[in-house]
Amino acid sequence: MEQDRAALLAALALQSDWGADEALEEAPPDRSRAPARDPAPLDLRDNAAPGPRAPAARAVASAVPAAHAAAPLAARAAIGAAAADSLAALRDAIAAFDGSSLRETATNLVFADGAPEAGLMMIGEAPGADEDRLGRPFVGQSGQLLDRMLASVGLSREDGVYITNILPWRPPGNRTPTDAEIALFLPFVLRHIALVRPRHVVLLGGVSAKALLRAKDGITRLRGRWHQVEVEGIGTLPMLATLHPAYLLRTPAAKRDAWADLLLLRRTIDAAPSPG
Ligand code: URA
Repeated sequence: MEQDRAALLAALALQSDWGADEALEEAPPDRSRAPARDPAPLDLRDNAAPGPRAPAARAVASAVPAAHAAAPLAARAAIGAAAADSLAALRDAIAAFDGSSLRETATNLVFADGAPEAGLMMIGEAPGADEDRLGRPFVGQSGQLLDRMLASVGLSREDGVYITNILPWRPPGNRTPTDAEIALFLPFVLRHIALVRPRHVVLLGGVSAKALLRAKDGITRLRGRWHQVEVEGIGTLPMLATLHPAYLLRTPAAKRDAWADLLLLRRTIDAAPSPG
């Protein structure tokens, strides 16, 4: 008995080490039984008639234009992003984009938070567990630090900042996003920027900085200065790379650099002519 318990605890610890820290099902599947036949796909229409459901699902699938369904993933992402003409449409396009397995493991889409008209857009890496649960970016520990950092230079997400991430879905176990995932979602991020039309962009951490500055350098080389970045549809935008709040939580000595970056941001905003 005691041995079983120890083995179970060891297996649990191993899963946690691997990042399998979220249950995907309400109840654990019983894998000791013979596999059941595949259930019919769920029909989520309010007035769905009872009975066999597979034909309805097939009708929906065949309504997708064949050329679009067959296009490479990157092209499908680019087409979906470019077609979005509002933030709501972009959110819907990301939610509908099924080209990433992250959508299957995440609980909620994390699109954005804050004030899109503020003129300042911040872009982080990817949602963590708290963000995934609540569907809002930067609501966990690093989000709380970010809010305090913003407040220290007179900014808040209520009216002064609009916040999003490179990835809209949480990578399982908070692993670092892969290059392929970043490249796949980049068209959505660029379209997001083009729709918001911020006057300044702050890139939080190395993943975001490297993706948008198309740089190979690490964040310590990229941070602390403005980079001029061409964004399709709106022209050149100033982007400031800085350290990620999660890194600051692990490395308090780096807060000094982050503070210098925030002061640079504040000075630049204050010096910018107010939009007329
Ligand atoms: N870290 C990020 O980069 N984004 C979030 O939304 C939360 C934590």
